[in-house]
Amino acid sequence: MTPQDYQLENKERFLEELFDLLRIPSISADNKYKDDVNRAAGYIRERLVEAGVDKAEVCETQGHPIVYAEKIIDPELPTVLVYGHYDVQPPDPLELWDSPPFEPVIRDERIYARGACDDKGQMYMHIKAFESMIKTDALPCNAKFMIEGEEEVGSDNLEIFVKENKEMLAADVIVISDTSIISNDHPSITVGLRGLSYLEVEVTGPNRDLHSGVYGGAVANPINVLSKLIADMQDDEGRILIPGFYDDVVELSSGEREEMAKAPFDLDEFKRDLDIEDIKGEEGYSTKERVGIRPSLDVNGIWGGYTGEGAKTVLPAKAHAKISTRLVPNQDSDKITELVQKYFAENAPDYVKVKVTPHHGGAPAVISTRSLGYQAASKAFEKAWGKVPIPTREGGSIPIVALFMEVLNLDPILMGFGLDSDAIHSPNESYGLFNYYKGIETISHFYQFFTEMSSGN
Ligand code: BES
Ligand code: ZN
Repeated sequence: MTPQDYQLENKERFLEELFDLLRIPSISADNKYKDDVNRAAGYIRERLVEAGVDKAEVCETQGHPIVYAEKIIDPELPTVLVYGHYDVQPPDPLELWDSPPFEPVIRDERIYARGACDDKGQMYMHIKAFESMIKTDALPCNAKFMIEGEEEVGSDNLEIFVKENKEMLAADVIVISDTSIISNDHPSITVGLRGLSYLEVEVTGPNRDLHSGVYGGAVANPINVLSKLIADMQDDEGRILIPGFYDDVVELSSGEREEMAKAPFDLDEFKRDLDIEDIKGEEGYSTKERVGIRPSLDVNGIWGGYTGEGAKTVLPAKAHAKISTRLVPNQDSDKITELVQKYFAENAPDYVKVKVTPHHGGAPAVISTRSLGYQAASKAFEKAWGKVPIPTREGGSIPIVALFMEVLNLDPILMGFGLDSDAIHSPNESYGLFNYYKGIETISHFYQFFTEMSSGN
């Protein structure tokens, strides 16, 4: 029996097990869910043991645990290290889900649940691909798994874990499925990710909430002030006006931009999917460039004052916003955080106090297409999908990727199988059954090609 036969035979169970994992609300950002996060780690450890690893442990950290497992069949053979995450983003706003986020269901050949694609579905494909190879005596090399629970909150503890366990994590390639392909007709391999700097801003005005009639017009309103500070951070052409923000941005050559433009992209389809009349971004760049090679700045949340039902006339004492910037090579996350802090400190008027608290950050990454890992991944896609995958740069961040490159000296292979329309981080996140099963197949081909190519066959 081949791994593919085994995958077909066990299709239903592969899905049921993923459903059990999706039922666990492992939301890393919210401490209320700590027990669920731990439960998800335990569940993954058990499934890895069943799949056939020699060793599997839940490693405690200062934050959420990391599941580490390995199967060493021969130290002389190459080793594939799989990285993934079992934590998910908060499902809010709950009322916009058509079915509850932690009660997975299938509609139109798609799995609907928080984490269906990002990253439980994509991570679990690796465990099932591994199991299929083990159970059919087809695992061609060694395998290691490192599945964390803090990716969605910046991977701070994973950084420590990686630095402290370099030897245990030694491998010939790192494979990650936590990104997207262009479409099911155009498979692709991600070769670029943006970095991130995330901060929270608090603007304080008077010492208490005031009657907006008694005081309105005479005392600064923190929400008005914060809105203006935010609006002034960007011009009408979509350029970010924070001094020094673009200093380290690497501009691509016209040749590189032409190469990027060859990847298929349907702007009408893009607008239709989002139900928008038009797009908006930095002048002079295409949509693909705006997310792939240009930095951006977004308010992720803004609050203050009265937001309950009906109307309350109030001049609030405080206003808050969560702001993120997405970064490209060679911008440095800490440096950008300082620049944003400085912007608020220097531009906040005297009639308010402003406090900026940095959250997490991460470095951007660009991955070579010349490595053996990339070539093996390309062949694996070609075999499973019948098409050579296109290298693409994506706008999301996986903070640990740059660290892997630096500390373990390995280029991670970003072999993701999601689609932009999967609505990750949004209500009604979903993942195609086709992608789930095709991904499992592609991953098993990858092991085969990588092992063959490593030995020069
Ligand atoms: N899977 C995403 C990253 C991603 C999505 C990469 C789409 C490429 C295409 C990952 O789980 C994620 O959401 N990362 C966070 C990182 C942050 C919280 C440090 C992100 O990008 O917001
Ligand atoms: Zn995510």
